[in-house]
Amino acid sequence: MTKILVVDDDPNVQRLLRVTLKQEGFEVVVAGDGAEGLRLWEVESPALILLDVTLAKLDGYEVATKIREVEGSGAHVPIIMLTAEKEVEQKVRGLRAGADDYLVKPFHQAELLARMKSLLARFSTREGGGIRAPLGKLLAFYGAKGGVGTTTLAINAAIALHQEHTRRVALVDGVLQFGDHRVFLDLGNDRKSISDLVSAPSIDNDLVKSVMVRHDSGVDLLLAPPSPEDGDLVHEAQMDQALTILRTMYDYVIVDVEKRLGDLTLSVLDHADMIFVVMTADLSCLKNVRLVLEALARVGYESSKVKLLLNRSNAFTGISVQAAEGALKRQFEFKITNEYRVAISAQNSGTPFAYSKPDSPLAREIAALAAEVERSTAPAAKPVSR
Ligand SMILES: Nc1ncnc2c1ncn2[C@@H]1O[C@H](COP(=O)(O)OP(=O)(O)OP(=O)(O)O)[C@@H](O)[C@H]1O
Ligand SMILES: [Mg+2]
Repeated sequence: MTKILVVDDDPNVQRLLRVTLKQEGFEVVVAGDGAEGLRLWEVESPALILLDVTLAKLDGYEVATKIREVEGSGAHVPIIMLTAEKEVEQKVRGLRAGADDYLVKPFHQAELLARMKSLLARFSTREGGGIRAPLGKLLAFYGAKGGVGTTTLAINAAIALHQEHTRRVALVDGVLQFGDHRVFLDLGNDRKSISDLVSAPSIDNDLVKSVMVRHDSGVDLLLAPPSPEDGDLVHEAQMDQALTILRTMYDYVIVDVEKRLGDLTLSVLDHADMIFVVMTADLSCLKNVRLVLEALARVGYESSKVKLLLNRSNAFTGISVQAAEGALKRQFEFKITNEYRVAISAQNSGTPFAYSKPDSPLAREIAALAAEVERSTAPAAKPVSR
């Protein structure tokens, strides 16, 4: 769990921050004065510090200056200064003392969280003083048939990897004609999309960066075209190029994949380090999964990168988990519980549950899936989640 150090002498601010940050899944340690703040920074190694300016013993500027002196150039704990003053002079002083950002009290919780997450994502990439190269792993979510929850799982897994593991994550809506990400994430048709990529004469890093849409959760999106006819304009070479570039920029590129197993889909799956075949326990899914597994084997994908993901695992379908596993002659690598209310209300409100309801069983199971992905894809390159 990501640890945050709050240094503030006001018990009301302490309480408010403790509650807000815990709700967001952070671990919180609190210091009431500057000297205690410094001590806790040393013993607790927080991932980020919220530092009030006016403090007893050492003030916020002194604490920040001291931390920067002691930590040296090899490390950098992000610091957000909390100040009651609006003056530019104070801001400059805070930044000069080594703060990375500042917020004027009273601030909005959403703004605080957004700034924290952005700093956490930025600085978690530093290891040994250098910027760590992106992991560049691609996770494909492929539905064995329509409506099994592929989009739901892809979106929430992306958010969990970003928020719980402070990874840089790109989420690609690969369902080019009827992609649902704008609905699930409450984004209008005016947002940029893959159409803006393929209409350009050539695709390069700057162009890719310019069409990514930042979601409030901190995940970057490559959206599907706003209208179905534009979906046809995307060719496999362009998809391949876009994914190649995204893998150089992000730790994880997560793709919600089109069902049709044609060249375009293969141009995505060729990149995949893991293919999650999403299914429910019903006969048509079982039939399709068998066909999909055979097709993936025929095109030469290693079977170890294909993971079976049983969604709505405890929903009544008349086919038990054991029977489904027996029919497929293999076990499910992942099972996600059935929680229709959470899933549908997240979808209809445009706020994914991994973001708005991190304590729901559904979100916790997706978080466990994200943790397993982390464990298996990035064992040697864990970010500093102290
Ligand atoms: N674990 C779950 N428990 C309950 N309901 C779920 C779960 N996962 C998804 N759903 C619901 O199932 C429906 C279909 O989900 P979703 O759109 O993610 O599926 P899909 O496979 O991407 O569908 P499509 O084929 O249309 O792209 C939605 O109403 C969603 O809220
Ligand atoms: Mg979908």
